[in-house]
Amino acid sequence: MPITMPITMPSPSWLLLQAESPHHRLPDDLRARDPLGGRDCGWVEQMTPFVRQFSQPGETVFDPFAGFGTTLLAARLQGRSAVGCEVDGQRIALARERLARHGLGDGVTLLHGSCDTLQSDTLNGVTLPPFDLCLTNVPYFGCRWPGDDAASQLYDSRSYAQHLNSLRDVFYSVRAGLREGGRCIAMVENVRLGERVLPLAFDLARILGALFVMEEERVLVYPHAEEATADEASAHTDRRHEYALVFRKQRECIDLQATSELLNALRAQGHGFTLIGSFARWLADPQGTPPADADIRVDADPQRLDALLQWLRGQGFSLTSWGEPVGLPLHLDSYRGRFYFRADRIDRNGALVRLDIGYEG
Ligand SMILES: C[S@@+](CC[C@H](N)C(=O)[O-])C[C@H]1O[C@@H](n2cnc3c(N)ncnc32)[C@H](O)[C@@H]1O
Repeated sequence: MPITMPITMPSPSWLLLQAESPHHRLPDDLRARDPLGGRDCGWVEQMTPFVRQFSQPGETVFDPFAGFGTTLLAARLQGRSAVGCEVDGQRIALARERLARHGLGDGVTLLHGSCDTLQSDTLNGVTLPPFDLCLTNVPYFGCRWPGDDAASQLYDSRSYAQHLNSLRDVFYSVRAGLREGGRCIAMVENVRLGERVLPLAFDLARILGALFVMEEERVLVYPHAEEATADEASAHTDRRHEYALVFRKQRECIDLQATSELLNALRAQGHGFTLIGSFARWLADPQGTPPADADIRVDADPQRLDALLQWLRGQGFSLTSWGEPVGLPLHLDSYRGRFYFRADRIDRNGALVRLDIGYEG
C-alpha cells in the first residue's frame, strides 16, 4: 500500500490518514517496553498538518499529554521547539530515546509530572515556557492502566466525572501558558465502554469551550483494519476516526448593543447590580477596547440571585459556573468559593451576549 503522508492541511473538514511512515513510527523495541504496548501512540502524520497550519518555524509547540513524544517529534521535524508534559516516568524515558534516535532531542523540554500542577509555572523545578500551539491527544477514559500508580494518571480515573474534572484542570493550565491568539487542539474519540458509549469528544468540547473560543473541528479518518482488543470490557474503539477540536485563545466578541439592552432590562426589572470591569470602562470610553463580557456584582442573597438567574433563563440564557450547568432553583451553598455565574445567550444571528455575575469575594 502506498504511504500517504499529508503534511499540509487539506481544505475539507476531514483528514484521511492511510498509513504510518515506518521511519516515524514508534520503534517496536520501545513499544515493547510500554505497559500498554504503545497502543495509544499517535502518528506523526496525524500531527504534522496541524503543526504546519497552526504554528510557524521557530515557535513552540506544547503537548500536555506527551506520551511517546509523537507531537514533539512532529514539531521538531517541522523546525519548531517542543515542550511536553507526561505523568509516566517510563514514557518520558521512551519519548527521550525516540527523539534522540532521530537526532532531534535538542530543542525539546520534557516535564515529568501532571500537567494540572503547571499553574505555578514550574514542575519539579522546571519552568514551562510560554508556547504558541497546544497540540495533544487526550487520555481516554476506561483504560485499565497497568503502569506506575500515579494519583494524577488520567488513565486511572475512577469515574467519568473525575476524568472530565481532571481534563478541565489540565486545560486550565494550558490556557495560562498559551499565548493570546494561539490554538489549543485536542484529538479525542468518543469511547465505547462495554455496552455504553461515552461522549468524551463532545464533553471535552464543552470543557474547552469554557476556556477558549471554538474555531473548527476536523475528523481524522484511519481506514485501516481494526486491531483486536484483548480486554473487551475495557475502553476501546476501532480508531477509524477521531476528532481534532480546534480552539483559539482569544477575546470573545459580544454584541455590545444587545448587552446594553440587557443591562437596561435588568434595571427595569428591579434586579439591583453594580456594573464593573471592561464593559463599564467601555461605556465611559467607547473608543477604548471593546469588552468581551459585561461584569456585574450583586449581593450574595440566595433569593435575589435565584430570581435573577430565573429571569435570565426565561430570556434564553444558559447559566454556568466554571463551565458546569447551573440548576434552578439555586442552592447557593453548592457554589461557595466559585465567585461568579456566567449567563450566555447566542442569538439567531450568531451574536453573543455574555453576563458574568459576581456574588462574593
Ligand atoms: C493518548 S496518550 C498520548 C500519546 C501521545 N500523543 C503520543 O502519541 O506519543 C495520553 C498520555 O497522557 C498521559 N497522562 C495521563 N494523565 C496525565 C496527567 N495528569 N498529566 C500528564 N500526562 C498524563 C498518559 O500517561 C499517556 O501517556
